[in-house]
Amino acid sequence: MGETTDIVERQIFKIEGKDNIILRPEGTAQVIRYYLENSLYKQSDFYKLYYTGAMFRGERPQKGRLRQFHHIGVEAIGSDSVYLDAETIELAITILDAIGIKDKELKINTLGCTKDKEKFAKNMKEQLAKRKSKLCEDCQRRLQRNPLRVLDCKKDDCKDVVYSLNIKDQHLCDACRTHFNTLRSLLDKSGIKYNYVPHLVRGLDYYTNMVFEITSTKLGAQDAIGAGGRYNNLVYSLGGEQVPAIGFALGLERTLLLLEDAQKIPVLQVFVATTAESLLSESMVILRKIRNANLLADMDYCAKSLKAQLRRAQKLSARFVIILGEEEQKKNLVILKDMECATQEELKADEAISKISNHFKGE
Ligand code: HAM
Repeated sequence: MGETTDIVERQIFKIEGKDNIILRPEGTAQVIRYYLENSLYKQSDFYKLYYTGAMFRGERPQKGRLRQFHHIGVEAIGSDSVYLDAETIELAITILDAIGIKDKELKINTLGCTKDKEKFAKNMKEQLAKRKSKLCEDCQRRLQRNPLRVLDCKKDDCKDVVYSLNIKDQHLCDACRTHFNTLRSLLDKSGIKYNYVPHLVRGLDYYTNMVFEITSTKLGAQDAIGAGGRYNNLVYSLGGEQVPAIGFALGLERTLLLLEDAQKIPVLQVFVATTAESLLSESMVILRKIRNANLLADMDYCAKSLKAQLRRAQKLSARFVIILGEEEQKKNLVILKDMECATQEELKADEAISKISNHFKGE
């Protein structure tokens, strides 16, 4: 991940003992190691991969900042196309849009290729050296080893220094400038709103070229929902050929905090209740049909009384309950109970399901 990467310097989750164990802090470097160790490059020159899983960082926990959290990540290996940059950003935005996270901001920047990034770092070092005394202790140290990290410091004094710097795209070569301008016009064409933030850098050393972050003011201090960018040198620096790559990771817990805030956590829509154990297998047929209609549904297997099952449906906030009783079964009907309006009617199971579907379509 790079020696001056913040995670490596300060946040490694280490278990010391006979065998020193380090828990993985992120997925990108491992995916590339997997790609190299399994010689995936021999089978295809382009890959799109994804992963979800627990990550660990030795951080000071606070709201939205945990020691164990989860990433949903994607990595595309083998292409430097600007269209892939656009697709990657669009994918992250589309996922968040699809689950109903509206309040978000996309920030983009480009560090340029390795040479441009070096120029950028040198320029920042010169400008920051003149303001060294105003920087926090960590940043004074970073100034020597990795001046770009200062741009990412969350301390107010350092932020003020960063805002006072002259940061534009002077460090970019013609090819990197054209790449970035094309990306911006592709995002404009696809209607994706973004802010170009010239001081946006990322805490991981491997990034080159385009970087992005999706933030939400609703999250408070830990405002990044997800982030990513290009890392065109990582395959090479882990021992492979010069293979360009790009990806991002969304933080699952922060995504859930936003969904909770917007009351978008999906709740159960239908609960299936049964009055006799002998009806359970038929209830399961109905449950399957409900789920096939794309509704969130569940049922009870504990042979509890109808009353207890209705209580459980209420606890799970199910809007509808389909009751299959012995009487109804004889008539080939079910009872559809609307828990909010406290009404109920007898219907054929299929009719009940389409009635429920229609109800949720309107939402
Ligand atoms: P990252 O910015 O370190 O990037 O992590 C991505 C997301 O994980 C953050 O935006 C945040 O939502 C979440 N996250 C990070 N640390 C914590 C924490 N301590 N507690 C809760 N959530 C957290 C990466 O790790 C890169 N591997 C992303 C990437 C993939 N770049 C290219 N491909």
